[in-house]
Amino acid sequence: MKTFLFASIAILIGLNLYAQDVKLPTPDRSGGKPLMEALNQRRSTRTFQEKELSLQQLSNLLWAANGFNRDDKRTAPTANNRQELELYVTTSKSLYFYDARNHLLKEVKKGDFRAETGTQDFVAIVPLNLIFVADMQKASGREYAYIGCGFVSQNIYLYAVSEGLGTVVRGSFDKERLHSLLELKPSQEVLLTQSVGYSR
Ligand SMILES: Cc1cc2nc3c(=O)[nH]c(=O)nc-3n(C[C@H](O)[C@H](O)[C@H](O)COP(=O)(O)O)c2cc1C
Repeated sequence: MKTFLFASIAILIGLNLYAQDVKLPTPDRSGGKPLMEALNQRRSTRTFQEKELSLQQLSNLLWAANGFNRDDKRTAPTANNRQELELYVTTSKSLYFYDARNHLLKEVKKGDFRAETGTQDFVAIVPLNLIFVADMQKASGREYAYIGCGFVSQNIYLYAVSEGLGTVVRGSFDKERLHSLLELKPSQEVLLTQSVGYSR
């Protein structure tokens, strides 16, 4: 009886701890548009529909952006392989941290924080805003962390084109506001944001 009770409590605690995390489906690493076509169509979009992305699209997008394509390395390069850059995601439901190693979304805060991710109106209705965060203690240098953002952003642009989605990378956001919203450490810095959704 005692063992059963302890096991039940452990399961309940476990469920409670992980209930808010979203396990992403295995990313589809094949197919997509031919590279030259994708490059030919790459562009920024600023008018979006409110239509949500599927969980599979979200999984593919995050993996393409900055996921692990080898045991210990990712789709985007970093100087000295410091891997200082991580992504946060806002949806209509929650704010998440993308745990690339385990390919899951860890809920940071429940609620719709999309409007806080930028100064342009569309950020409040676009299904997805990505927030690029670098840990400057890990980075080889500030400039290298910014360069790393470029690779991740272009991965997102190319995935979006390939999937028939629109995207725009954004430097217009309130750095301090996002730092506190994301509950970041002093060594972490928000460097860039990017919106993704269906173009209107
Ligand atoms: C570092 C960086 C910051 C940007 N910030 C914004 C922004 O805050 N808002 C926006 O609408 N577009 C932003 N853009 C997108 C550029 O305006 C866009 O790439 C440029 O006009 C060229 O258009 P294209 O991407 O369609 O080729 C940014 C682009 C870069 C590279």
